[in-house]
Amino acid sequence: MRTIDDLQVAGHRVLVRSDLNVPLDRSGDTPRITDDGRVRASVPTIAALLDRGARVIVTSHLGRPKGEPDPKYSLGPVAARLGELLGRPVVFAGDGGGDIAGERAREIVGGLADGEVALLENLRFSPGETSKDAVERAAFADALAALAEFYVGDAFGAVHRAHASVVDVPKRLPHAAGRLVLTELEVLRRLSEASERPYAVVLGGSKVSDKLGVIRSLLPKVDALLVGGGMCFTFLAALGHGVGASLLESEMIDTCKELLAEGGDRIVLPTDVVVADRFAADAATATVAVDAIDEGWLGLDIGPQSTALFASRLADAATVFWNGPMGVFEMAPFAAGTRGVAEAIAAGQGFSVVGGGDSAAAVRTLGLPDSGFSHISTGGGASLEYLEGKALPGLAALDV
Ligand code: 3PG
Ligand code: MG
Repeated sequence: MRTIDDLQVAGHRVLVRSDLNVPLDRSGDTPRITDDGRVRASVPTIAALLDRGARVIVTSHLGRPKGEPDPKYSLGPVAARLGELLGRPVVFAGDGGGDIAGERAREIVGGLADGEVALLENLRFSPGETSKDAVERAAFADALAALAEFYVGDAFGAVHRAHASVVDVPKRLPHAAGRLVLTELEVLRRLSEASERPYAVVLGGSKVSDKLGVIRSLLPKVDALLVGGGMCFTFLAALGHGVGASLLESEMIDTCKELLAEGGDRIVLPTDVVVADRFAADAATATVAVDAIDEGWLGLDIGPQSTALFASRLADAATVFWNGPMGVFEMAPFAAGTRGVAEAIAAGQGFSVVGGGDSAAAVRTLGLPDSGFSHISTGGGASLEYLEGKALPGLAALDV
């Protein structure tokens, strides 16, 4: 892959595809970014280009609007935050419409001086971005490519998407991989080679089916696979336990039995769970052994004994990968498992990686410092698909 150091960008327009898809709290008068990790992670590439005198046009998706403008998903609040972090004004090209690479964008881009930066409105306001129809994608990619002379792919969190801005634009312009993509790849290579042992992987989140690919590919490489979150109940059911009203993927029970047979004692399951009588922060709760979940109760976190067990397996790990919360950490009574696991990872001396999305948000929501981890990935789905060994279209597009 070419890097930005290989491009002569001074005085030229560079389109940077970043992943600025951040969680927003819309309960107040103005939307508030609740975790700006992806914006911060995007800054080094943009800043390096600006420092070299490029005219930078940043572009990203936010959420999943349906191919038409939707003010809820405007990148406006992100433009403001990006400007603060860069320490320079960011011209925002959104105008409430859906023609994000149209006349207004061309005008703004045409007015940029060397070292100035603009942000286009949400790519997904255009149906061409995510279209399965190559012709529709091509038309949108043409419009985006017409804005610039170079393309830099830095949206690691979106490299598993075959979208116009990710795969079609780099076909049209001289291109390079951004710094974030290169950093993420280095980290993921280290995790897939798993050279430093013991290697512990912690998986959570709601569904076994979402994580099946990564379990299959990592199980032969790890010393411990610790399973929490909603997905642990399908494993517990595979052991013959009743799981009450907890999340359960019945069609995955047989698969979990196979994994348990194959993984033997490397798969570590909770021994106790925090159950609630309903899905609410003020529900009645209890901590019970995993073979004592009553009908009607649902498990919403791993229990203290399980957290201690997981922590003991993490204490001496030389390599740790964590993806998915241990419980419903957004509600205080069910946050202890996720917090305990995060603290155990942070206390360890090994190379530790938090895989994007919910786990990264958990770390920051719980107020844990980023510095406790070797790397907090910006890619949820993207890092999982990489570790599964899948080909990622956005990386293939950057391969010269
Ligand atoms: C993510 O949040 O995982 C990336 O930004 C990709 O978003 P998507 O899952 O909506 O394609
Ligand atoms: Mg996602």
